[in-house]
Amino acid sequence: MTSRKKLIAGNWKMNKTSADAVTLVKDLLLEVGKTTDVDIVVCPPFTALESVGKLLNGTLVKLGAQNMHPEKNGAFTGEISAEMLRALYAGYVILGHSERRSYFAESDAFINQKVIAALKNQLRPILCVGETLAERESGATLKVVQTQLEAGLEGVGKDLAPSLVIAYEPVWAIGTGKVATTAQAQEVHAFIRSLLVKLFGEPVAQKLRILYGGSMKPANAPELLAQADIDGGLIGGASLESRSFVELIRAAAAAK
Ligand code: PGA
Repeated sequence: MTSRKKLIAGNWKMNKTSADAVTLVKDLLLEVGKTTDVDIVVCPPFTALESVGKLLNGTLVKLGAQNMHPEKNGAFTGEISAEMLRALYAGYVILGHSERRSYFAESDAFINQKVIAALKNQLRPILCVGETLAERESGATLKVVQTQLEAGLEGVGKDLAPSLVIAYEPVWAIGTGKVATTAQAQEVHAFIRSLLVKLFGEPVAQKLRILYGGSMKPANAPELLAQADIDGGLIGGASLESRSFVELIRAAAAAK
């Protein structure tokens, strides 16, 4: 099996002012700024990207955004383009998060446009997929994940595919304290990998990171990260405090 470097990404959601963000990132850099065996990404709100980006410049910790608009520029009040993110040295962007899908009615087609725009601008999309509780209970998990994944990646060629990161986030596990069992998570991760093989071929699919997200905490991370197809985490709540985020990074380093 190809060994994939684990990736731990913090999704701060709508939390932290620019000043709070700077405090947190300074703590993180002291603790894990020299970590080379795990890729680390922080995704602050737009208003803190510049201040956090300045601190991260020249370090091993990478900057990510939580969303973007697919168009280059224009009359899209309240939106931010890939080019604007690149100008702040963002390297990653979370796309298709379930909160965007449900609260802001983002469709697979719209998310797909963003994925393409991100890749064209050298931003690595972290494409999120995952089922609701009702979908899991009705046995539709794999179908939902397949639809979201295939629609989200439509038109992505083998040339740009190596920049992708996928996050499996069961909606019922996000911010709820309910974590998927390792077997539930691994089953979906392996399924996602099999879809990636079909889309991009075995060598590319074996290199892509598939993150788990949904109430990942230092206590449950080691078991999840030990699964064959779980290559890291997309962390919400536990990324808002340096201690728990650092512990997750250490768990990923230990699991490799
Ligand atoms: P959580 O969020 O870790 O707070 O469950 C994960 C996410 O939404 O990315």
